[in-house]
Amino acid sequence: MFHSEGLNTFFLPVHRDGIEPDEILSLYQKHRIKMIFLNPTHQNPTGSTLSIEKRNRIIDICSKYGIVIVEDDPYSLIGYDDNYIPSLKSLDSQGLVLYISSLSKILSSGLRIGWISGPQPVIQRIADLKQQLDFGHLTYPNYTLRNYYYHLDSNITLHI
Ligand SMILES: Cc1ncc(COP(=O)(O)O)c(C=O)c1O
Repeated sequence: MFHSEGLNTFFLPVHRDGIEPDEILSLYQKHRIKMIFLNPTHQNPTGSTLSIEKRNRIIDICSKYGIVIVEDDPYSLIGYDDNYIPSLKSLDSQGLVLYISSLSKILSSGLRIGWISGPQPVIQRIADLKQQLDFGHLTYPNYTLRNYYYHLDSNITLHI
C-alpha cells in the first residue's frame, strides 16, 4: 500500500524484545524518515512485545524529530492483564501517535471493523478519504456488531 502511493519504506530488524529504538534515529539521520509503522504488542509474526523502556525511548526520539508513529495494535486485546504494558498512544502527549486496532482477532475478521484514534484534523482527513473511497462502511456489519454488544450488555447504547 505504501509503495503504491509512491512512498519509500525501510525495514528495521525485530529482536526478541522488538525493534531497537536507536535504529529509528539512524534511519532518521540517513533518510529523514517521516513516519514509523509499529506493531509493538505481540508483533506479527515474531510475537515480541516492546518493553516500557523501549516505548518511552521511541516516544522521546519521535517527539524530538517530529516522526509520526502508527501504532498497529490488534493483539493487546488478547493478551493477559498481568502482562499489561501501556500503549505508545497512552505515552504520547504531543499527538504523534495514530492508534489503530481491530475486531478481527477478538470477534470476526469478516466484519472488517476496526478503529483509529488520533488528532482531530488527521481523523477528519482520513474520514473524508474513506468516504471518497467506499462511501462509508457497510451497514450490515455495523448492525451485527451493535446487536452483539447489545447481547453482551443491554444497557449499552451504540449509535451507528
Ligand atoms: C499486526 C496486524 N495488524 C492488522 C491486521 C489486520 O487486521 P484487519 O483484519 O482488521 O485488517 C493483522 C492481521 O493479521 C495483523 O497481524
